[in-house]
Amino acid sequence: MTASHSETLTLDKPRSPRRPAARRSNFELYSWLFMRLSGLALVVLVLGHLFIMTILDDGVQRINFAFVAGRWASPFWQFWDLSMLWLAQLHGGNGLRTIIDDYARKDTTRFWLKILLYVSMAIILVLGTMVIFTFDPNIPVT
Ligand code: HEM
Repeated sequence: MTASHSETLTLDKPRSPRRPAARRSNFELYSWLFMRLSGLALVVLVLGHLFIMTILDDGVQRINFAFVAGRWASPFWQFWDLSMLWLAQLHGGNGLRTIIDDYARKDTTRFWLKILLYVSMAIILVLGTMVIFTFDPNIPVT
């Protein structure tokens, strides 16, 4: 063999001098896989959503309360929007978790940024899910 070993591949060091020690679990593996699979699903869900909302028929011109009420009368669109909400929130939240781990320099900063992230994720997931399932098209006129 004549292969030369003079060229070595190197990776940049992370911005943060310290990262939490690796734990003995497969969480990061599943989280890596989840980012790829949810990313694939989001391509279909988000591009489909954008196409329907902004291009199909009259695009945004036709969106009003009645349009939303009509869509959410169908379990199919409820499921579509629910999947988009949960996948985008978990995908974006998990991505931000990685960024916090990469950049936060102090353990306390990392801890509080993650608390802030998880609390905001929970609020958006709970509120969004409630809106989809409790939406009432017959709001009484006052
Ligand atoms: C449109 C479909 C999308 C695809 C195909 C996609 C794909 C990906 C993939 C593969 C990663 C992992 C990158 C890595 O590990 O180095 C990633 C990271 C990330 N994604 Fe997405 N994503 C999509 C939509 C979204 C949406 C809607 C959000 C926000 C709600 C989002 C926020 C993030 C964030 C914050 C990260 C972390 C970036 C980082 O680690 O530097 N993505 N995305």
